[in-house]
Amino acid sequence: ARREALPRDLDGRRVLISAGGTREPLDPVRFLGNRSSGRQGYALARVAAQRGAEVTLVAANADLPTPAAVHVVRVGSAEELRTEMLRRAPDAEVVVMSAAVADFRPTLRAEHKIKKGASDPAALELVRNPDILAELVARRTPDTVIVGFAAETGDDAGDVLHHGRHKLQRKGCDLLVLNEVGEGRAFETEDNEGWLLYADGREQTLPRRAKSELASMVWDGVFPLLHA
Ligand code: CTP
Ligand code: CA
Repeated sequence: ARREALPRDLDGRRVLISAGGTREPLDPVRFLGNRSSGRQGYALARVAAQRGAEVTLVAANADLPTPAAVHVVRVGSAEELRTEMLRRAPDAEVVVMSAAVADFRPTLRAEHKIKKGASDPAALELVRNPDILAELVARRTPDTVIVGFAAETGDDAGDVLHHGRHKLQRKGCDLLVLNEVGEGRAFETEDNEGWLLYADGREQTLPRRAKSELASMVWDGVFPLLHA
């Protein structure tokens, strides 16, 4: 198949992307995790590198091949992801939070493997994890473009777009990539569909496409936001 020539519009741009899903340890052998494969974040990294960017990909538990010319930093927990993102963000012109960050972690991490014992276990106690995207926004320089992701379903409070618009407001990022989730959607699939929601109120639908094509559309949306 003929390969479309990609624009080199991100030439030399420093891009920082998180991908995958964090694992919150309970003990040395167990964790609380999620189903994120990392494919969307990897596709964003691959496409950005193809368009000329210098890409660092902070990958949480993603079992995927390293894309060409991408610097991959592996992490496990939300705390590790946070440390790497906050440390590296000041050098980046674009920061993309596509990782699925655990909202909660076990309050205690057992030093040794938890044994079954004779009775039922105590209830699992959880605490909130810090909101990394919100911290990145709070510490940003004016020239940094910050992109968030959201996977939403409709519920009694409103539809997917309602939740996406509120999340964009709450997070304060420049662009929110909103995906509708549900049966056979977004998680562990090759395809994705959704919207790009911009801080200035613009909204653009993303048709159902392969994740690499969605990645191209996200970069097409980011490019005009970049500081000259
Ligand atoms: N995110 C983050 N740190 C967290 C949780 C989420 O940086 N502790 C980022 C995600 O990487 C994503 C965006 O915030 O880019 C939205 O994540 P989401 O889970 O949809 O938002 P929450 O604020 O956690 O809201 P909720 O899960 O209740 O919908
Ligand atoms: Ca969440």
